[in-house]
Amino acid sequence: MDSFAATVARMPALRARIEQHPDQFRVLTGERPTGRLHLGHYFGTLRERVRLQAAGVQTFVVLADYQVITDRDVAGDVRQNVYEAVLDYLAAGLDPRSATIFAHSAVPALHQLLLPFLSVVTESELRRNPTVKAELEASGRALSGLLLTYPVHQAADILFCKGNLVPVGKDNLPHVEITRTIARRFNERYGSVFPEPVGLVTDAPELPGLDGRKMSKSYGNAIALSMTADETATVIKRARTDSERAITYDPERRPEVSGLLATAAVVLGRTPIDVADEIGDAGAGALKRLTTEAVNEFLAEHRARRAALTVDDAAAVVRAGNERAQSIADDTLHEVRAAMGMIY
Ligand code: TRP
Repeated sequence: MDSFAATVARMPALRARIEQHPDQFRVLTGERPTGRLHLGHYFGTLRERVRLQAAGVQTFVVLADYQVITDRDVAGDVRQNVYEAVLDYLAAGLDPRSATIFAHSAVPALHQLLLPFLSVVTESELRRNPTVKAELEASGRALSGLLLTYPVHQAADILFCKGNLVPVGKDNLPHVEITRTIARRFNERYGSVFPEPVGLVTDAPELPGLDGRKMSKSYGNAIALSMTADETATVIKRARTDSERAITYDPERRPEVSGLLATAAVVLGRTPIDVADEIGDAGAGALKRLTTEAVNEFLAEHRARRAALTVDDAAAVVRAGNERAQSIADDTLHEVRAAMGMIY
């Protein structure tokens, strides 16, 4: 069994422990505010966060604005992206009275944890981190110091609030691994301060984009949660298909048709093969009509809740979250400096 398979195999027991003792867990998760959240985020992470919150687990969500510049020159319209993401969190059911939603850059003490953390890892450990390697290749740029140290920064995100449960996709698991290493080494040197967090992963396949490739705003193949029903219809209408009349699910040979089928299936809670069988010889037009209707119906309530909120609501949530995160980060940093003998 490879290590990912081994991690997945441990998940049922972990989920059972969370159910029984939600108070023993603290979730830290988040994303980079690079654009609008889409259906892939909804099924990949948002839904899981809301479930954990409902189970009674304390939840922290970081909008990792500093992480935006790991692989690009400037942060872009980061504030707007932060507020839009918060509106989606609220519409999806995250409750800001129990969940702490905050922006990276607003919590200085979190970043100061980087200094002792950097001292417990080596350059070669960072260079061979699979996530750093993959992002470096995808960026087509030289390796910046921030990208090289990105996993350590993420360890600070997790450990500043002593998060011990990190819902992640497969590609972020190496970050959880290095976070455990950093926590362990810090504790060995200075006494027990940090938990060793565990990753909460699903083996559910990632939702592809409308063209079957990885869902990404930059490919134009994503359905943003904030789109209107008409915008949704337009992106689906524009999606490419192929010339075969019969609709079949075949991600290898027919990625475009299969991307549409996967999208319809996930919002309907059915399998793509089942949806393909229903459409049969009715062709790509019917597939697109069914997908559009299914997505718009699925998102109708989310969009209605979203439309009832304003950017000011989002800003207020972030400000309150920032304050909470700052106070926790200050406490943790104090504890770290005390452990290191640096209180004057
Ligand atoms: N790196 C994550 C992403 O690209 C976002 C993130 C930042 C994160 N800090 C985190 C995820 C801490 C989990 C825990 O999506």
